[in-house]
Amino acid sequence: MAYETILVETRGKVGLITLNRPNALNALNSQVLAELLAAVEGFEKDGTIGAIVLTGSEKAFAAGADIKEMQSQSYVDMYLGDFFSGWEAFTRTRKPIIAAVAGYALGGGCELAMMCDFIIAADTAKFGQPEITLGVMPGMGGSQRLTRFVGKSKAMDMCLTGRMMDAAEAERAGLVSRVVPAGEVVEEALKAATKIAGFSLPSVIMNKEAVNRSYETTLAEGLRFERRLFHSMFALEDQKEGMTAFVEKRAANFQNR
Ligand code: HXC
Repeated sequence: MAYETILVETRGKVGLITLNRPNALNALNSQVLAELLAAVEGFEKDGTIGAIVLTGSEKAFAAGADIKEMQSQSYVDMYLGDFFSGWEAFTRTRKPIIAAVAGYALGGGCELAMMCDFIIAADTAKFGQPEITLGVMPGMGGSQRLTRFVGKSKAMDMCLTGRMMDAAEAERAGLVSRVVPAGEVVEEALKAATKIAGFSLPSVIMNKEAVNRSYETTLAEGLRFERRLFHSMFALEDQKEGMTAFVEKRAANFQNR
């Protein structure tokens, strides 16, 4: 597929996707969604890829859903088209996706970053849910995911005032996992993704599944789910390899089986 709104590359075992609509600050329209889903699906099927990095430009990760595309839509258009539901497919990706965020991550941009597994931010990053300034509200998960990340008080503040959070505040609040100097964010994310891609893919996917389950279930059920996955890992050759390598004081050589 020839992409027009994203750039897709591989760096060793890592798939790198760069949002590329510079004239619209990477605003997310239907074409971006279709291309992003196709690129992610390609990396999911590619046995040489172990992790994915999603990034934007230095100025904007993404400044939101495309306001110009939404502006004249009616309620019926939105409802019958089930607008934004397509993004759910992105969240079903099994391989880890790291968001490398520099500049603006607003509205749908912030929501897309939160759909990734974790966020590494440049010190220039600015997060916000400014939909209220447009007379609407978050529509790609912001009111739910942001609240789970940063708690009710800050999420309310962000959604009701539309103010932006800088990288330092986002790190304090637990929205991002680390902050690095501008210009290093993609390299840092690629480094983290390369590290992940060097581990056993089945165990990587199960780790991701278990952490995500904590959002969907009770503590008791989540603990049971974790324990059952943990038990099942002892059917992996990579479990034997990982533990044997430790005992033999050598690096593990995982085979994804
Ligand atoms: C469409 C956008 C856009 C967006 C920016 N652009 N954001 N186009 N949708 N979300 C376009 C501008 O129209 C402009 O195009 C070009 O990108 C550059 O933007 P400027 O505004 O000139 O840049 P700047 O002055 O640096 O300001 C940057 C900014 C501002 C603060 C990020 O662009 C901004 O406020 N953008 C909108 C942010 C926002 O409200 N996001 C939430 C969207 S709603 P032209 O052609 O004029 O040069 C959403 C969820 C919707 O995401 C869910 C509910 C339905």
